[in-house]
Amino acid sequence: MEETSSFVVVSNRLPVSRDEEEDSWVTSSGGLVSALVPILRERDGVWIGWTGAPDFAPPPFAHDGMRLDPVALDQDEMDRYYLGFCNNTLWPLYHNAIRTPQYHRRWWHPYRRVNERFADEVGRVLAPEGVAWVHDYQLQLVPGLLRERRPDATIGFFLHIPFPPVELFAYLPWRESLLRGLLGADVLAFQTEQSVNNFRDAALRYSTARKAGDGLEYAGRRVTLQCAPISVDAEAFERTARCVFGQANELRQRFAPARRILLGVDRLDYTKGIDHRLRAIQTFHERHPEDAANTVLMQVAVPSREGVLQYAEQRERVERLVSRINGEYGGPGYTPVVYMYRHLEFEELVAAYVAADVMLVTPLCDGMNLVAKEYVASRTSDDGLLVLSEFAGAASELTDALLINPLNLDELAETLRHAVRISPSEMATRMRSLRETVRRNDVYRWSRACIEALET
Ligand code: F6P
Repeated sequence: MEETSSFVVVSNRLPVSRDEEEDSWVTSSGGLVSALVPILRERDGVWIGWTGAPDFAPPPFAHDGMRLDPVALDQDEMDRYYLGFCNNTLWPLYHNAIRTPQYHRRWWHPYRRVNERFADEVGRVLAPEGVAWVHDYQLQLVPGLLRERRPDATIGFFLHIPFPPVELFAYLPWRESLLRGLLGADVLAFQTEQSVNNFRDAALRYSTARKAGDGLEYAGRRVTLQCAPISVDAEAFERTARCVFGQANELRQRFAPARRILLGVDRLDYTKGIDHRLRAIQTFHERHPEDAANTVLMQVAVPSREGVLQYAEQRERVERLVSRINGEYGGPGYTPVVYMYRHLEFEELVAAYVAADVMLVTPLCDGMNLVAKEYVASRTSDDGLLVLSEFAGAASELTDALLINPLNLDELAETLRHAVRISPSEMATRMRSLRETVRRNDVYRWSRACIEALET
């Protein structure tokens, strides 16, 4: 296999996971992977990333028509780089500090070291004048480090999470280094205009960058700032939805016969607002017992970052609320909240979307939130309702959802009541417009826009 490539994608995780029982690799699901696999195949590209396990980095291999190049992290790096700096410093800070970020030098140094390792590997694999596309907050130093190694490269960076307001970013003791890292890119892309503006403010205040049109000038180069909201493979969701009507009916019969299904599907992350959502469900039962008793909330919580204390605390909080609601408002033959703490396979997930009358996507802060777009893409006619937090990136595009402030529990409870009583014509008008938006702006359009910006 040829070692170098003129198109290299870099992310913290590789787009595959290990199935130990079958002794094989499984391609991950998700918008980014489905958009990039065809591009990587077409361009004979390489994807560089971590396998997700400590000290496990087999030599480069081919899978599903992609060339994959694993980077090794040891246990100490997993603890300090991944759980520490990425998910205890950057993650809470970039999500508006809704949990207190921890700042430790003993985490910063491994973050830098791991970023250097990724940059070394890209520098080795990238063919002369090739394109490197770096993803997300775990690798913010890579663009700058790569530019030092490979000034001939074209470098793109996409941030999947929000970039915080400058007043918050200012707290980061290593803010200048992070900006130097990011400004190594030719194109810096964000999910929303708000993030573009926040980044521009931070760069103007804490780096030597200067305004140049809509972008910046830095170290004698032009840096393009792009707003590129990521999306889903809308056609794949709709196609699958048409094949899982049977499964969706079974779900209805099993968990909510003759009732409306409200659905929540989230990584179990404190940014997702699952606890606030449950407290709004509680208020709904208190205030409007008859309407509420006609509903079942199916809450899927996907395990995530279990090694971080705040995630374990959030799980306890959520599970306590579920059992309190079921204890207070349930009875023989009625469970108000059906709770699952696990990952759903693709078809199971789409069947849940098809079964759901109302989708609740109520994060406190979220870069985009693809669940909102997946639900819309899984509708096969203009029914179903989306209740969406105004603090999800998706809210800028999905303006025909019922938009709410997830911290306003009274408003959310009243919105639930409105959702179960909504007129068929209002529901159809809203869903028709949402479906058009998601179909038009699918993940392939997103990747084309990003790559075009890099190649012009
Ligand atoms: O979008 C944010 C993100 O951190 C991605 O980078 C990542 O793929 C996903 O959430 C899941 O997080 P993790 O890789 O920490 O399990």
